[in-house]
Amino acid sequence: MSAKIVLANKYATGNLVYIDTNLNKLPKTLFSKTERKFINEELKNDRKMIVINQFKRYVFIQILEDKKGYIHQSEAMRKAGDSIAAQLNKQKQNTVTIMAGNRSGAALAMAEGMALGNYQFIQFRKDKSKEKNALTTINVVCENITPKDVSMLNITVDAVCHARDLVNMPNSHQTATQLAASFQDLGKKAGFEVEVWNMAKISSMKMGGLLAVNVGSPEPPTFTVMEYKPANAVNKKPYVLVGKGVVYDTGGLSLKPTANSMDLMKCDMAGSAVVACTMYAIAKAKLPVHVIGLTPATDNRPGGNAFAPGDIIHMMNGATVEMLNSDAEGRMILADALHHAKQYKPELVCEFSTLTGAAAAAIGHYGIVCMGTANDEVKDKLKFAGNNVFERLVEFPFWEEYDDLLKSDIADFKNIGGPYGGAITAGRFLNKFTDYPYMHFDIAGPAFHRTRDSYRNKDATGVGVRLMMDFFRHIAE
Ligand code: BES
Ligand code: ZN
Ligand code: ZN
Repeated sequence: MSAKIVLANKYATGNLVYIDTNLNKLPKTLFSKTERKFINEELKNDRKMIVINQFKRYVFIQILEDKKGYIHQSEAMRKAGDSIAAQLNKQKQNTVTIMAGNRSGAALAMAEGMALGNYQFIQFRKDKSKEKNALTTINVVCENITPKDVSMLNITVDAVCHARDLVNMPNSHQTATQLAASFQDLGKKAGFEVEVWNMAKISSMKMGGLLAVNVGSPEPPTFTVMEYKPANAVNKKPYVLVGKGVVYDTGGLSLKPTANSMDLMKCDMAGSAVVACTMYAIAKAKLPVHVIGLTPATDNRPGGNAFAPGDIIHMMNGATVEMLNSDAEGRMILADALHHAKQYKPELVCEFSTLTGAAAAAIGHYGIVCMGTANDEVKDKLKFAGNNVFERLVEFPFWEEYDDLLKSDIADFKNIGGPYGGAITAGRFLNKFTDYPYMHFDIAGPAFHRTRDSYRNKDATGVGVRLMMDFFRHIAE
């Protein structure tokens, strides 16, 4: 757990953050004459964050810019929270209290930014106890925040931190088997069912795509089925989440170059982390929704009998695929999972994957590329959630004409579409294995940041978990 957010009635002593648009409301006794003068000067200079060192404590004044609109204002608060947390950690401060009047949205966003920014991945450091951030408690004082708001926020932050841990974990310490064991742990902690299929079961299920990708690896694959089915579920048909669990992507025989490519590929199971950690959050929060999670997992390596460009693969649904590039492995393992999902007769399938460099090239790490066959109402709900949590969705076309690019002369289709529309042809490939409302989320851009990006942190961001949690909270209402 990063830092805990606590609902408080009034501040005790210690570090304070004031969120307000009207500074006349600040307690008169809080600042000395010189401090007031300083504040006024800072305001004249259009400063949005004012920091006052009172020696016993720090006081931060954060200006709210109402004209920005709630999406951008919340995001500004998350970033301010991250910045304040960093300043407090630098000074080895354990606690802070956010004083927010009646500005509940801003207060929750700021607390979220503080807690998420406070995340660290230091378990492999010798001096980890010394390096650990000091901040442990974030008090929030706000008229219209409920204990439930705070517990939902803590659960979501915790789930995002779990997702980051999984994605940051290198392949040396996370095989497909170990990843599945971590999903089992999450299930035990939060209270959802987890079944892990081994190689024998995967073979008996004829998951040809997953097996083909796994051939080049000395490690066996896994396929994990998770289920959360509360008695009071609001949905009759389940929501199914599917996530790419490539614990390491070398590209296989179509080997990737090292720099800025293969060296990042421990992140290639980020989709599966979204699935497991969303399940974790939903179960912890006891949301009344029936959700199933499916995560095929393997590494993609060029060893032994590794499948070779030109090979024909028999997929679980009976189709044949001419596998022309072994680096387009994600779609091979996801195809079987999507086919398997049909038996649940799902309300909606949301599939998350670090699938294509093309998605990242198109929009960078500033949003999630999405596309699919769900109706506009569902898409609008997903986009609304994306705006709420600032994991914004960019919808790409999903025209069937793109299927032309996947035609093969010798098999039912190819696993690559050529140089144009790469993110879309990848999505269209997957669509061939669905018969239900389907949404594909390509998180290759936002899942992993080489440099620190405010509260999203450095390396694994946990992107997708907050999106899905917000979506399901609204479904549950
Ligand atoms: N795992 C990669 C995609 C990726 C790229 C994830 C950058 C995260 C950051 C995926 O398996 C891949 O290699 N895709 C190929 C597909 C191509 C061969 C059709 C790509 O995008 O180049
Ligand atoms: Zn690949
Ligand atoms: Zn991959």
